[in-house]
Amino acid sequence: MTKETELEARLEQKERFEPPASFIEQANVSDPDIYEEFEENWPDCWERAAELLEWDETHDDVLVDDDEPFYEWFVGGRLNASYNCLDRHLADRGDELAIQWEGELGETREYTYAELHREVNEFAAALRELGVGEDDVVTMYMPMIPELPIAMLACSRIGAPHSVVFAGFSADALATRMNAAESEYLVTCDGYYRRGDALDHLSKANEGVDGVDHDTTTVVVDRLGDDEPHELDDTQRDYAELVESQSGADIDPVSRDAEDMLFLMYTSGTTGKPKGVKHTTGGYLSYVTWTARAVLDVKPDDTYWCAADIGWITGHSYIVYGPLALGTTSVMYEGTPDYPDKDRLWEIVDRYDVTQLYTAPTAIRAFMKWGSDYPAAHDLSSLRLLGTVGEPINPRAWKWYYKHIGDESCPVVDTWWQTETGGMMITTLPAIGDMKPGSAGPPLPGIDARVVDGAGEEVAPGKAGYVTVNRPWPGMLRTLYRNDERFLSEYWEAYSDPDADEWVYFPEDGAKIDDDGYITILGRVDDVINVSGHRLGTMEIESAIVGVEGVAEAAVVGGDHELKGEAVYAYVILEDGYDDDEAMRERIVAGVEESIGPIARPESVVFTPELPKTRSGKIMRRLLEDIANGEELGNTSTLRNPDVVSDIEAKVRGD
Ligand code: PRX
Repeated sequence: MTKETELEARLEQKERFEPPASFIEQANVSDPDIYEEFEENWPDCWERAAELLEWDETHDDVLVDDDEPFYEWFVGGRLNASYNCLDRHLADRGDELAIQWEGELGETREYTYAELHREVNEFAAALRELGVGEDDVVTMYMPMIPELPIAMLACSRIGAPHSVVFAGFSADALATRMNAAESEYLVTCDGYYRRGDALDHLSKANEGVDGVDHDTTTVVVDRLGDDEPHELDDTQRDYAELVESQSGADIDPVSRDAEDMLFLMYTSGTTGKPKGVKHTTGGYLSYVTWTARAVLDVKPDDTYWCAADIGWITGHSYIVYGPLALGTTSVMYEGTPDYPDKDRLWEIVDRYDVTQLYTAPTAIRAFMKWGSDYPAAHDLSSLRLLGTVGEPINPRAWKWYYKHIGDESCPVVDTWWQTETGGMMITTLPAIGDMKPGSAGPPLPGIDARVVDGAGEEVAPGKAGYVTVNRPWPGMLRTLYRNDERFLSEYWEAYSDPDADEWVYFPEDGAKIDDDGYITILGRVDDVINVSGHRLGTMEIESAIVGVEGVAEAAVVGGDHELKGEAVYAYVILEDGYDDDEAMRERIVAGVEESIGPIARPESVVFTPELPKTRSGKIMRRLLEDIANGEELGNTSTLRNPDVVSDIEAKVRGD
């Protein structure tokens, strides 16, 4: 048997892969007793996470659960996140790199901890002078440039929660989020590079601000320089000038209560309105620091790279807060993985001797398609650990990553978590658990995640069920911003029994569990789809489509896609008098891009005179998904309008 077929066979059999001995020897966490220790000592076990930080005041209670499910962690404790990510490293690591940034055009910028600390202080002083006070929400609408983490840390220094909006979202999406958070401050930039072209970002930001219903002040970073000039109006200030005017400023880090909000992050849910997930200073920071150390094995001397975007939770937790709290070097890359060529990531790993790489299965599927010659042309031997996040990884992609990037000598951690969980929840600990390709692994120590049926009973191994989390954890969301009711109904209603004082968190994912307790995530069970690891609400897309003139009704589902994982399929009914032609299709696509962003662009728009509905009038989404995936359709006799199904199928096939 060749090595290749041998590996294939092991994968087929779902054989387990042991962590390499060389990794175990040096790992931050390698004692298997940790699971039992956490179990026996819960919730006090989480003191271990809190101890990774420096506190102004230590907590009185690890967990307070007087008002479930509004749990509070490290109650009575006080700390500052920016102090923990910067100041406390200055004595020993002031001259070590905190951020190693590379722009798409190849330019680089490096910030030592001392330099980062300096600029964060200056920008914090500038924000204060602009009027930002404690608890004022500052919105950031920025691509992957160093000023984004600087602005986040400057906010956390003065106790102002940030709300980062992904730069790929549209002006409308920015306005919705600024309005929802009543955010009066925006930090943005003039533009950035994509595949060599300078993109205008400021016009989009300006258009967004036009849609905000209160006065705002905007700070603009000049990313593109003099070649691409931009103009500021009298509500806008230049970032560099502000920082310069505060040269040498020292801002005392504001001591925050452990339960004070560190940031808000809007994410998609079942309804059309994005949810403002609230994370706190003590619990969140402890949890991401603990998981970055235990799962990603981050050490101060590492050059660690999470190739996500800070505009999503992965970047918040594992590019900014976790790694910087641990005093490591965090790599940031501005651009796409295929510019100027398809080996850009491997070039970066090689150049900086990257020690850990944490990325999404959608990227791995693209690398696989491009072929192994690209990574093979570079020295990737500095890598010690690989991670994935954001969507299920199929065993074939897992194997490719393990072999062609990790040279079969790096553990791969497949980490399941969500915006709401703050940090990782289900994954192997890389020096302890064997890896099973395609399966995330057991819940982390202290995490009580289960796979249950509709009634909340644990399902038998191998059977599909739903993930629940049956005990709180420090990194959990505390509520949805100014919407406790929705927090309760979205996450706690399905499985909790308040009369019995049983509170169960429902993440809205399907899964199966094996005999050995390993959990394989099967994907969302609500109306959320996962396009290239980006979470999108089908209702949000539907309402964007219905907003297009001439559209009467729309249904959006996720269809399987080789690279994206899922792609957006839109089924559209037009009003009388409108033609189902190419121009209409283009207007629909443009409507989605305008109200959400290009990531939500439909892969396919199918015009139909009717949507398949049950007798009670509910759209049969499952059927539309099956049509999108070209799957055999089950019984359609329960439909009010069974004939429509074959019409739609014919249209999708292009008959
Ligand atoms: O469906 C799960 C999927 O991504 C969802 C959470 O999306 P978001 O809040 O945007 O956070 C993504 C990054 C943490 C989950 O409900 N998901 C995340 N990680 C995995 C995953 N699905 C399978 N395997 C994973 N490792």
